[in-house]
Amino acid sequence: MSPPAPGSLKHEVRRIEDCDPRTGYTYEEYTQTADWLLANTDHRPTVAIVCGSGLGALGELLKDQVVFHYSEIPNFPQSTVPGHAGRLIFGNLNGKPCVCMQGRFHSYEGYPLWKVTFPIRVFRLMGVETLIVTNAAGGLNQDYKVGDIMVIMDHINMPGFAGQNPLIGPNEDRFGPRFPSMSDAYDKDLRKLALGVGQELGYAEKMREGVYCSLGGPNFETIAECRMLNRLGADTVGMSTAPEVIVARHCGLRVLGMSLVTNKAALDYNNEAIASHDEVLQTGKDSAKFLEKLVSLLVQRIEPNNNVC
Ligand code: HPA
Repeated sequence: MSPPAPGSLKHEVRRIEDCDPRTGYTYEEYTQTADWLLANTDHRPTVAIVCGSGLGALGELLKDQVVFHYSEIPNFPQSTVPGHAGRLIFGNLNGKPCVCMQGRFHSYEGYPLWKVTFPIRVFRLMGVETLIVTNAAGGLNQDYKVGDIMVIMDHINMPGFAGQNPLIGPNEDRFGPRFPSMSDAYDKDLRKLALGVGQELGYAEKMREGVYCSLGGPNFETIAECRMLNRLGADTVGMSTAPEVIVARHCGLRVLGMSLVTNKAALDYNNEAIASHDEVLQTGKDSAKFLEKLVSLLVQRIEPNNNVC
């Protein structure tokens, strides 16, 4: 085959001025969205729930629903991933006023992390005090089984090591300090409550507590990467959560995180299993009932003033 003639190839030129030149939302954009939502619903949630891949059924449990598609909310990014509906649901879960994200944003969709985490600050401005984040994750800990629920004790934010952090850019002091602590990112009392509720529901064998490792995705990990993460002390691995938790802690929200183990991460070159998004969604479906029960009961036990009863 002869090489193309000079000048005959058509290149799509992506100019720098086509990219969003900003490094974040303005404070006014956060307040504009919070005020719009407050004006369009009478609900006043104290708990926000982020549904992971395949876990959106949680949102259906809310009573007296007021639903917004992300496309109708000012400044909101759009969900592009199968298994993420892209709806914000306000309502009461077991009598507790909640807001539920049916679909979250990920950096692999092309969003900068300040867009990925936009809803968290909006929730804060609306009066939310507690954030519950759920995710679908690969089990690195070889004791974990598909369908287990891991209460997140701590995280490793891998993209952060490479300079990818949602708090990069000028600090907005009205939300929190320049250098927030992350040594207490996942609330001890809420973790204890989640494990206790899991036991109470008869799921003690499924309940785990461990470390979640957040990666950028969108590819699943290589075997060598899984082995490395396992040796570094991670029990589950996924493509979300840490950015939202960092922003939530920065603005003073209490956080509870839970991973649903949807697949076993491959640590062995003889293992023929290959991770797939379909498997992730199917396990989400199979285990949704358990997670729904767990979160409903949990939420009921969180006091509006942030105390756990
Ligand atoms: N790796 C990364 N993200 C995931 C996985 C996984 O194995 N399972 C579900 N989300």
